[in-house]
Amino acid sequence: MPVTTRQVGPCFAAEVEGVDMTRPLSADQIKAIHAGMDQYAVLVFHDQKIDDEQQLAFSQSLGELEQAVGTSLRAPDEYRLPTTFADVSNLDQHNRVFARDDRRRLFAIGNRLWHSDSSFKVVPAKYSLLHARSIPSKGGNTEFAYMRAAYDALPDETKAEIEELICEHSQIFSRQQLGFTDFTEDELKRFKPVRQRLVRVHPGTGCKSLYLSSHAGSILGWPVPEARAFLRDLVEHATQREFVYAHKWRVGDLVMWDNRQTMHRARPFPVNEPRDMRRTTLAGDGPTVAQAAA
Ligand SMILES: [Fe+2]
Repeated sequence: MPVTTRQVGPCFAAEVEGVDMTRPLSADQIKAIHAGMDQYAVLVFHDQKIDDEQQLAFSQSLGELEQAVGTSLRAPDEYRLPTTFADVSNLDQHNRVFARDDRRRLFAIGNRLWHSDSSFKVVPAKYSLLHARSIPSKGGNTEFAYMRAAYDALPDETKAEIEELICEHSQIFSRQQLGFTDFTEDELKRFKPVRQRLVRVHPGTGCKSLYLSSHAGSILGWPVPEARAFLRDLVEHATQREFVYAHKWRVGDLVMWDNRQTMHRARPFPVNEPRDMRRTTLAGDGPTVAQAAA
C-alpha cells in the first residue's frame, strides 16, 4: 500500500495513510515514513490495533531502539513493561492507577512541561513513537511545538548569540521547576546533568532548530539565574500557538515525532482514570556535543 501524508494543523504535523503496523513494512514504506519525518516532524497514524510486539517490530524497522532503564522512579521490580518501552502511563506494575501523591506519579508530572525526550541522556532520542492503548474521558492531549520554525523566527542577533551555546540537561532541573526536589543520593547520581547544544542542525534537511527542553537548567559559562531566565524566554517564544499542534488522542493512535526538532508536553487529565500510553524510542546518532560518556 502506498504511504500518503496529509497535513493537519500547522505545517509540521501530518496524518499518514497506507500503513498497517500489524504487518511488516516494505522498503518503500520505510523510505516514505523517513521522508515524511523529514518533511514534517510529527506523523499521526490512526487506528493501529497493535500489541507490544507489533509496536516493537514497527519501531525497529525504522531504526535502533533506545532502552528505558533508570529514567523514571520505578524500581527495577516495579516495571510494568519491558525496558524496550518507556512506560508513560499512570499505572503501576499491577495496572492500578497511581495514588495522587505517589512519588512515581509526581515525578512523571514533569512530562507536562515542554521537553524533548531523553535530552537528559548523552545521546538523546531521535524519534519517539507513542501508542494509545487506553485514554481518559477528557484531557490528556499531547502538544507539540516546532523548534525549526521557532528558530527561524528569532531575531538575527539572538541567533548569533545562541549559535555556540551549550546547556546542561537533567531531570533534576525539570522536576525542580515543579517543586519536586526530594531526590535520593542514588537518584541524584543517576540524573547527573549532560551537555547539549542549544542549536542543532537536522541531518536530513540541514535546517537549524532550537534544542530546548525543561530539562535544560544551565548554560555553560553563564550565571544560573541568568541562564534560566534566558531559557525560559526562549521556551515562551518557541511555544507560541503558531508553532504548536495539539493532538487529541483516540485509542489506537500512534504518534511519532522527531525529538531533534520538536518539543512536546502532556496535558492534565482526571487523576483516577487510567491513561495507558506506551512509548518506543529510536536512539539518536550520537551526542550533540563531545563529552565523557554517562
Ligand atoms: Fe516526552
